[in-house]
Amino acid sequence: PKERSIISSHSYQYQGFWYSPLSLQGIVNCQKYFQPRQNDIVLVTCPKSGTIWLKAILYALINREVHPPRNPDHPLLNRTPHQLIPFLELLKPSEYDSICNSPDSSTRIFATHIPVTSLPKSITDGSSSSNCKIVYLCRDIKDNFVSLFHFANKATLRPSPISLEEALDLYCKGISATGPVWCQILGYWKESLENPSKVLFMRYEEIKNEPQFQLRRLAQFLGKPFSQEEEDSCLVDQIISLCSFDTMSKLKVNNTGNFEHGFSNGAFFRNGVVGDWKSCLTADMASRLDQITEEKFGGTGLHL
Ligand code: A3P
Repeated sequence: PKERSIISSHSYQYQGFWYSPLSLQGIVNCQKYFQPRQNDIVLVTCPKSGTIWLKAILYALINREVHPPRNPDHPLLNRTPHQLIPFLELLKPSEYDSICNSPDSSTRIFATHIPVTSLPKSITDGSSSSNCKIVYLCRDIKDNFVSLFHFANKATLRPSPISLEEALDLYCKGISATGPVWCQILGYWKESLENPSKVLFMRYEEIKNEPQFQLRRLAQFLGKPFSQEEEDSCLVDQIISLCSFDTMSKLKVNNTGNFEHGFSNGAFFRNGVVGDWKSCLTADMASRLDQITEEKFGGTGLHL
């Protein structure tokens, strides 16, 4: 089925979730061509949950020996996190050959918004030789919606702005990027409970509130814990500082040039605040979202 969309001109439903036409083509390509490797890391997020932030953190964490976070030539100072860690669904079929067949055995990091039920089986199947790790990130639903709404209206390809009311209607019906958002989140929540060594479930608010703890948790999960020597030299704080909203949003590379789908690089940095929904949603709008969240997550043990 085809429907109006929050971000693109229209969206399609595929395997129970809604996508822009470009993302849909990319997902089909990913299902067909992607071959994970033993030590790959796949970052999965709900769109507008802080993907770009966790991309930066993962990149800095995994490459900390080659690129110490205080290095004045650190790649994160000159390239956007999206350039350093590609979205699987934005790869072109021709790019899979070079990525999948490259002889380099170093840790590869990819990102995606694909729901767990539509990921290539080679990624999710714990018994397969790939055995790659999944890091999942989500965010408070109301903040997620507000971030998506502002982002949608920054799309240069949009014929006209979308109103808050229409965006909320579509979001609540599940018709948003990889929506229904609740189902995308729940899929990974269940997977993380069933297979905690395979899937790490993270929340935007937790990284904001306790960045050191969450960074160590992430490093531990990926089998790359910080050594005593690294702890003594404050590497954890250095990575957090390099990837902070303050640092990232001021970099020239993140403020110039374009991403894809008609978005500028700067569109990914708005204000990065927890609870910003209060400045945008009416009480009725907020309670409409809360009610759906309660219906969907009630009894699952998941709280955002
Ligand atoms: P807001 O619109 O609430 O400000 P994504 O990368 O998934 O598209 O998410 C974008 C959201 O993450 C935006 O939220 C953006 O401002 C926020 N963000 C970007 N970089 C961040 C950082 N370094 N720290 C915290 N939040 C960040």
